[in-house]
Amino acid sequence: MDSKYTELKKKFIEIYGGDEKDLRVFAAPGRVNLIGEHIDYCGGYVFPAAITLDSTVIARKRDDRMVRLAATDLPDRVACSLDSLEEGRGLRWGNYQLGVANELQKAGYKLVGVDMLFHDTVPLGSGLSSSAAIEMAAAITFVTLGNEANGITNPIDLIDLAVIGQRTEHNFCGVNCGIMDQFASAMGRKDHAILLDCGSLNYKYTPFKIEGCKIVLANTKKKRGLGESKYNERVRETGEGLAILKQYLPGKVHLCDVTVKEYEEYKDKIQDSVIRKRVEHVIYENERVLKSFEALQNGNLEAFGELLKQAHASIRDLYEVTGFELDAMVEEALKIEGVIGARMTGAGFGGCTVNIVREESIEKFIKEVGENYTKKTGIVPEFYVSEIGDGAREIK
Ligand code: GLA
Repeated sequence: MDSKYTELKKKFIEIYGGDEKDLRVFAAPGRVNLIGEHIDYCGGYVFPAAITLDSTVIARKRDDRMVRLAATDLPDRVACSLDSLEEGRGLRWGNYQLGVANELQKAGYKLVGVDMLFHDTVPLGSGLSSSAAIEMAAAITFVTLGNEANGITNPIDLIDLAVIGQRTEHNFCGVNCGIMDQFASAMGRKDHAILLDCGSLNYKYTPFKIEGCKIVLANTKKKRGLGESKYNERVRETGEGLAILKQYLPGKVHLCDVTVKEYEEYKDKIQDSVIRKRVEHVIYENERVLKSFEALQNGNLEAFGELLKQAHASIRDLYEVTGFELDAMVEEALKIEGVIGARMTGAGFGGCTVNIVREESIEKFIKEVGENYTKKTGIVPEFYVSEIGDGAREIK
């Protein structure tokens, strides 16, 4: 086991005492979404991949029903019984973990007390799903140890854990998010992107290796501010759009069941221009995901890059969740030779952009985009050259 884990185990023992004997290590990653933004909650297609920044947990089973939480980068310490998890609701840190335990128990999972130390490398509020990483890392820890303590030997259903993570966001954290982040964190596979149909949860992996290119994530470092209420507002707006279209297209369950052709035929029925813009983004974005998948299968890099650019324009102009910083980052990226495509990734209102960059241009990209972005915004950004990693798992 590499030295990172040895260090973390030492830290665990400093906090909780005892020795290394019964310590276990679990991890779940953040994700980047290549394309398909704000359409998972509309039953659309998304195209995410797990990254190698993650949430790592050192854990030791207890003989009672206490859950104790600590983190390497925060002073916060939490202790709560599995019988009073509702207490976790208002916590500044620890609410995701206790919320997941609560939803797991509601779903019938049998849990056991556990001491945990979290080490998180997904930057918070960066649009790379630091919260899903924590949720899935907590979930796989709770379920693995709970199953063992109760003599349950069935393999863990990772998709179920993703659904439970999403429920945690809805019921415990007040964000009406889709399934994409938790799914990618639970089900990610090294060097593969996941084409996920969020309506049915059917999915397929596709190797994501673009010869000579890498994924560069550019963190605007813009704090998200009112992001959560704006997010829920978009969920509401698309719901309104669906309700209107359903009057003419009965039988549609999700907004993304509406085809481009149907949308064009009925769009005038949506009189509110804001709702119409939101719906237009969703319908065309869904189509762009499938076209992107096809372009990559055919090795058509240019077409893929073009779709990324269109996706950014759409989420900026029609969905209106980008803002000055994300737009500036994309604008500056597209000026650099060797950039195949660039767009914001995640919920928006700040966070990261995803850039597909030729390897020989990465150094120049980081230097020039960084400088020009700072000139425009006064903020010093961060860049991560990203690998695609595995999903939630025990590290042995
Ligand atoms: C957040 C949500 C996801 C998804 C994205 C936008 O990351 O958690 O469910 O809606 O925003 O695509």
